[in-house]
This record gives sequence, C-alpha cells and structure tokens, in this order.
Amino acid sequence: MIKMTEFAKRRKQLMQKIGPTGIVVVFAAPPASRNGDADYPYRQQSDFYYLTGFEEPDAVAIIAPKRKEGEFILFNRIRNRDEEIWTGQRAGQTGACKHFGADEAYPIDQLSKKLPDLLTGREEVHYTLGTHTAFDALLMDALNKLRGRIRSGIQSPLSFVDLTCTVHEMRLIKSPAEIALMRKAAQISAAAHLHAMAICNPGMNESDLEAEITYQFQIHGGRHHAYTPIVGSGIHSCTLHYNDNNRIIKNKDIVLIDAGCEYQNYASDITRTFPANGRFSNEQRAIYEIVLEAQLAGIKAVRPKAEWCAVQNAIVKVITQGLMELKLLKGNLHSLLEQKAYTKFYMHGAGHWLGLDVHDVGRCKIHDKWRRLEPGMVLTVEPGIYIPAGTEGVPKQWHNIGVRIEDDVLVTPSGNDVLSKDAPKMIEDIEAIMQG
Ligand code: GLY
Ligand code: MN
Ligand code: MN
Repeated sequence: MIKMTEFAKRRKQLMQKIGPTGIVVVFAAPPASRNGDADYPYRQQSDFYYLTGFEEPDAVAIIAPKRKEGEFILFNRIRNRDEEIWTGQRAGQTGACKHFGADEAYPIDQLSKKLPDLLTGREEVHYTLGTHTAFDALLMDALNKLRGRIRSGIQSPLSFVDLTCTVHEMRLIKSPAEIALMRKAAQISAAAHLHAMAICNPGMNESDLEAEITYQFQIHGGRHHAYTPIVGSGIHSCTLHYNDNNRIIKNKDIVLIDAGCEYQNYASDITRTFPANGRFSNEQRAIYEIVLEAQLAGIKAVRPKAEWCAVQNAIVKVITQGLMELKLLKGNLHSLLEQKAYTKFYMHGAGHWLGLDVHDVGRCKIHDKWRRLEPGMVLTVEPGIYIPAGTEGVPKQWHNIGVRIEDDVLVTPSGNDVLSKDAPKMIEDIEAIMQG
C-alpha cells in the first residue's frame, strides 16, 4: 500500500519542480458509461491518483506552492445520505482533509467560483489540455474571468505546461513502495499464466482460459485486468490486439496469452505462448526459440545508462538472424537490418514503460535523443514473430504461428530484475507443466 505520507511527499517534490509561480490543476477521471445506466467499473485517473491517493470521481486537485492558506486544495463530492445508499460512502470535505491530507476541501460545485481566485498571480498552469473538453472549458472560463480583472492589477497565467514535463517524469521512477506493488501484480499474473498452461487442453474455448485467468487474478487480489486480455489460438495468435477470445482451441494450435492484473492500481503485463497440446511442433519450436533468444537479449540490454533503443536493437538482430537461418528472410544481415526486413514478421516495438498505466507515461526520447535507462524505471520487453496464413513467400508449415514473450523488467543499479520471472518461458518447463 502507498502511505499517505508518500502522496504528500510527491506533492512536495512536484511543488519544488514547478516553483512558486506555478499551479497544478488535475481532474479526477469522469465515470465512463457502458450503456444506459450502467457504467464501467470506476478507475481513477492515474496522475490524480498519483498525487492524491483519492479514488472518488467528481474531484479536482489543486496544488499551489507557497499559498498561505494551504498548498493542497481538494474539490470533491459532498456527503449525501441518499446517494451514499446507492454508491457507497464518500470522504466529504472533512474526510478529504482528515484522511487525504488536503489543507482545504470544498464541494465540487464551488470549483468554477473559486478557480479564478486560485489562479490569480500564478504564471504557469500545469495541466493536461485536451483530454476532456468539459474540463478544458471550465479552466478557460476561469481564465477569461481573470482577464476581465486585469485592469485592476490582477495577473492572469501566461502559459500552460503539460504534465509530461513534471508529474510524468516523477511517475517514471518508481519508489520502493511502488515497486513492491508492481512485483506483487506481476507475481499474481505470472501464477495465472502458469495455471493457464497447466489446464489448457485442445477443445477448450479461448474464453475458458480467459475465465481461469480472471479467477486467478481476483482470488489473489488483482480485482481488475490492467488491459483487455488477449487469448489467441491458431490464427488469432497473429493478431496483435486480438480480444474476441471466443474460438475453440484445436490440437495443433499455438496459444498466445497476453494478460496482466492491476494490483492497487499498478499494472502488470505478461505474454506467454505455448502449444495447445503441450508439445511444440518443430516449426512452433523453431519460431519460439528465436523469440526467446531475442527476448533474453533484450532483457540483457536493460541496465542503467543504456539507451531506450538498445533493447529493440538487440532484439531485431536476433530475430533477423534467426529468420535467416530458417530461410524466412533472405539476404545479408547488415542490409536486412538496414531495410528493417524483420517488420514483415515483427512489426511492433520492444516494449513500453509500465506503472499506474499499462502503457505508462514518460518520454522515450528527449530532444531527439533516446533516453537513457535509470534505476527505478520499469519497462516491458516483448518481442514477437507473427506468421498468419497468407504471409507472402512463406511455406504453409509456418502458417498461423504467432509467438510473443513479454516480461516486466525493473532497472536496478546493477542491471535489471524481471518482476514477472515466475511465469515459465523455457520450452522444457512449459512442456513439463503442460504434460504434468
Ligand atoms: N498488453 C498490451 C501490450 O503488451 O502492450
Ligand atoms: Mn506490453
Ligand atoms: Mn502485453
């Protein structure tokens, strides 16, 4: 669990970053309608959660360095007995101050009245423009009100600064408490992948495996998937973001599962691929071995000071060499790499940052230069090879083999630590589990 003192520390660090002329405005996620009266399960906006720990909707956090009356102001829902009977207890304004460390808390319907005063005298507004027009409009309205008062000597803000430059840079380096939660998320997911391998049999539906994985997540505390799970057998193993998950698994199929739970709002993201009947065919094995070797090379490239692109460079070299040996790519290594010939079979990146969001925030390039890895960053390493039926120039025996292997990797001072290492990926381990 992240302690309230850690959320307070983040706000303090943020205030130091933006200086006394800045102000931060962050909106809670709006509830998302699924249809009619039914909403999707509520999930707090990650920046908002990162700075407050507050998980209710209809809230706005203001962080105003050096403000005399208090630097952390929360606008949130009022207590309301009738509504709480339907949707559960609320913190209210008293709870916001007492349990979430707000210096001041106001009912959310006072936001538009109070916002102009809070922005007065500030030069930079740190805010993510463009995600919700209603939030943007509220802020613009407050700015317009301020501009109307300029003749009385009031100063209105001069610029907007995206949270990419501040909060997202902070979110990129995980604290020990965050790493502990991410390790737990990865452990739950790894155990669920192992379980899916152990129970998979031809004749099952892909959705049966999804159900088993969901069950394993939930009984171990991973209430939600971090993203829509992918359970693709046969040709569906070649669809990168397949999520129909509704086909009967056949005897000779390969099965690709990309599923990760969220644990206390922190994501895991694991992919494992295995033969439906428990034994890799020669072609499945050949492709799998290349992807595994590429993934191990990619993980080895994860260490402090390595450039972000080092992981992909290591991967594409192994994949190109492997596909040349299988005669699925023809030519010379150097020119095949230069032409990016591998994109016929491996068409995505090596991975992404992982954290509160599954595709977590943080820049990979800064001023046209690849970012260098630092201890505390977490990224996925997820090479794949995909050969759907109909792939030009590829003999039939290779068709409908899609293999991806994905792990969650923490950069440590001495190299890296694979948080998802409990999910088996060596061929002999997978076959032993499936036949055991
Ligand atoms: N699960 C989505 C991804 O691997 O990026
Ligand atoms: Mn991923
Ligand atoms: Mn994934």
